[in-house]
Amino acid sequence: MARENANAPYLRNAWYVGAWDDELSKGILARTIMDEPIAFFRDAQGKVGAIEDRCCHRGAALTDGKVVENGLQCGYHGLVFDAKGKCVEIPGQDSIPPMAQVKHYPVVERQGFIWIWMGDPALADESQIIDWPFHDDKKLYPHRKAYLRIRANYLMMIDNLMDLTHLGYVHSKTIGGNPLSHVSAKMDVVRTEKGCKLTRWMENVLPPPTYLKGVPFAGKIDRWQEFEYVLPGSVLQWSGALDVGKGARENRDQYGVHLRLYHAITPETENSSHYLFSVGAHFAQDNPAIVETIFNDTYPTFIEDVEIMNNQQARIDMDPTRPLLAIKADNALQQARRVFMAAYEAEQAMKRQAAE
Ligand code: FES
Ligand SMILES: [Fe+2]
Repeated sequence: MARENANAPYLRNAWYVGAWDDELSKGILARTIMDEPIAFFRDAQGKVGAIEDRCCHRGAALTDGKVVENGLQCGYHGLVFDAKGKCVEIPGQDSIPPMAQVKHYPVVERQGFIWIWMGDPALADESQIIDWPFHDDKKLYPHRKAYLRIRANYLMMIDNLMDLTHLGYVHSKTIGGNPLSHVSAKMDVVRTEKGCKLTRWMENVLPPPTYLKGVPFAGKIDRWQEFEYVLPGSVLQWSGALDVGKGARENRDQYGVHLRLYHAITPETENSSHYLFSVGAHFAQDNPAIVETIFNDTYPTFIEDVEIMNNQQARIDMDPTRPLLAIKADNALQQARRVFMAAYEAEQAMKRQAAE
């Protein structure tokens, strides 16, 4: 059985964010997920497909080819595959043998995400996909999307997002503020249907530099952060602040700073991950430049996180058998890990049952 603090195994029967829609603007995207090379492509009708990025003829990468009328054409000898992975054309040959086929993956394009199902296709239920309506309304929620690769196991990034006590240390120049105000802030963690939610209030504190760029707060602020982990690889963030005395707890939908961030972490290999995040600023409708400012300030904070994790994973890999120490501040991330491991064990039990 996998250890709680170690590299997380793959949970297969789940939807993952495979890509942002705009990463397919050139029509083809090569991305490895769970050690499987995948060719994402937008076909001539505009529909997204995801098939194995390995031609069944001589093993060429299909992403070296191009999109043609009937699908994705291998760049080596011209075989064409449709979105179901079926070969539909072999140059110079009339009949197509049944084994001329590559693996295909269920995909759904919705709200700017391209979701991919990595498990048993018969279990792929679109109604399980996380709803993120904030991407639908660009006017109400101006936002920017981005991608970073992390040289660390994907749950390491979930750990990072479910742990806010690092903000004052890792991000002191941007969103951090005073380290001790983070460590001593009251934190509530509750289980949810598919994960857990961390809520933290920091009241009567100085605004961090990034917030001041968005809103000219007069003095101290009441600041909240909500991070909800949703199986297997998403963290939904809602955070912001109001001037002290404006009733932030009741008026969180009122302006001040009001941010909605989506964090999607998808395993590439055991030791590397894709990190896709979007930053939406609900308070900036009249001034899109604020989104740029917030994004430009937030982006370096994620780089700071990635650098920590890259080195952390490298240290852990030197001797993965050594245990890690749990401290009080780890409460939320430990809960997220427990939810994950319970889901993983359930999936393994289902597989064992099916094999009997
Ligand atoms: S390797 Fe793909 S067509 Fe030959
Ligand atoms: Fe961070």
